[in-house]
Amino acid sequence: MGVAQNEMLGQALAAVGSRDFSGSRAFQAKAHRLIPGGAHTYAKGDDQYPEQAPAFIVRGKGCRVWDVDGNEFIEYGMGLRAVTLGHAFEPVVEAAYRQMQLGINFTRPAKIEVDLAEAFLDVINGADMVKFAKNGSDVTTAAVKLARAYTGRDLIAICCDHPFFSTDDWFIATTEMNAGIPYVVSEMTLKFHYNDLESLRELFDQYPGRIACVVMEAEAATPPIPGYLNQVKGLCEERGAVLVFDEMITGFRWHLGGAQKFHGVVPHLSAFGKAMGNGFAISALAGKREIMRLGGLDHDQPRVFLLSTTHGAETHALAASLETLRIYRERHVVDFLWKQGERLRALVNQSIAENRLEGFFELMGRPCNLVFATCDQEGNRSQAFRTLFMQEMIRRGVIAPSFVVSFSHTDADIDRTAEAVYGAHVVYRKTLDGGIDKYLEGRPVKPVNRRFNYFKTA
Ligand SMILES: Cc1ncc(COP(=O)(O)O)c(C=O)c1O
Repeated sequence: MGVAQNEMLGQALAAVGSRDFSGSRAFQAKAHRLIPGGAHTYAKGDDQYPEQAPAFIVRGKGCRVWDVDGNEFIEYGMGLRAVTLGHAFEPVVEAAYRQMQLGINFTRPAKIEVDLAEAFLDVINGADMVKFAKNGSDVTTAAVKLARAYTGRDLIAICCDHPFFSTDDWFIATTEMNAGIPYVVSEMTLKFHYNDLESLRELFDQYPGRIACVVMEAEAATPPIPGYLNQVKGLCEERGAVLVFDEMITGFRWHLGGAQKFHGVVPHLSAFGKAMGNGFAISALAGKREIMRLGGLDHDQPRVFLLSTTHGAETHALAASLETLRIYRERHVVDFLWKQGERLRALVNQSIAENRLEGFFELMGRPCNLVFATCDQEGNRSQAFRTLFMQEMIRRGVIAPSFVVSFSHTDADIDRTAEAVYGAHVVYRKTLDGGIDKYLEGRPVKPVNRRFNYFKTA
């Protein structure tokens, strides 16, 4: 090990502090008494984090957060990838506040609904029309409904290698966590594999004239093989189905124009959310006029009840989104996300090599959306080792369920994270050699979408 690495290790170990989580513990008990699961979003829940972790955050600024005990952390994947500019990002907060002072919900539509539609379609320029909503799930579900009405067909084909499309029954019925959903609903959703055109063609052959739409991310952890996305679109058009891209994660991250721009394949419909409003609740269904207009007033076909809710176009969320789009354009945010992700990737890969963790700890995905996989001594995917790694990162002041960067992760934050990774990797290596029980404090995390498996709470 060279001097630089020695220094790095020294700093990494020096940064290991014992953190007091007693406030978190006390709050956890109360939270589980009052809220099923102790949180309003499963991915934030206790079963997703090590026992030694901050359980509740009280404030954030940039890429940093502070928990109920006053501990400070650098965060990754902030707000489930929604907060791409940074927590409490002033220009966005101010734009929302200015709008709130003008009123947030009127009897007739607000002018800003049209302003944002224009700005959005200027960026997502393969689409002719857009409709805004509050959640990603609302808009993927709206895409499915619209496709069914447009085609007069009932079945949906989803890419089963992509983890999530909606909280609604058409998707959740296909997961392990399908309690409460009639079995018949699951029979309406068929599955194909990514980068496997034949698996989609087989579905079209098996259910001729019955598949309304194909729902997929243009890219998740694995990139498309050359030509694949175009072939999917071609197959959809040949068989009369609507192609829907879920751009919840890729939108405003792969490219300002989404993964559809990045890969040069324009879907018939696409669904956006997350990064659109830097954490404010806003999502969008965008697409071709011929399909979208079925949700409008100027046609003679049966009307589609397309996204109409009381809070659907709250003006402050639209103002936040307008400002977010402006900042994205003016400050080249997407380029920055790729650059910082690349910096982090190089440093993490260096640490993997120095700690002899090849085959045990792996980075995956594009630099703008880095995730990691953890394996045990036998090289099998391991939730216990994932928990251990997150535990050691938290010990070093970093909350890292992923390495998804934001516009607020500076070079210094990335370097500080790399030091924490190095320290966590040292412990990972020792654990591979010495056994998980020796180093993991408490139980491992669990996947969200599981059927049973009781998880003891505080
Ligand atoms: C790819 C993808 N699609 C859809 C959704 C649903 O979005 P929301 O949680 O805003 O309903 C998510 C949420 O994580 C997602 O990751």
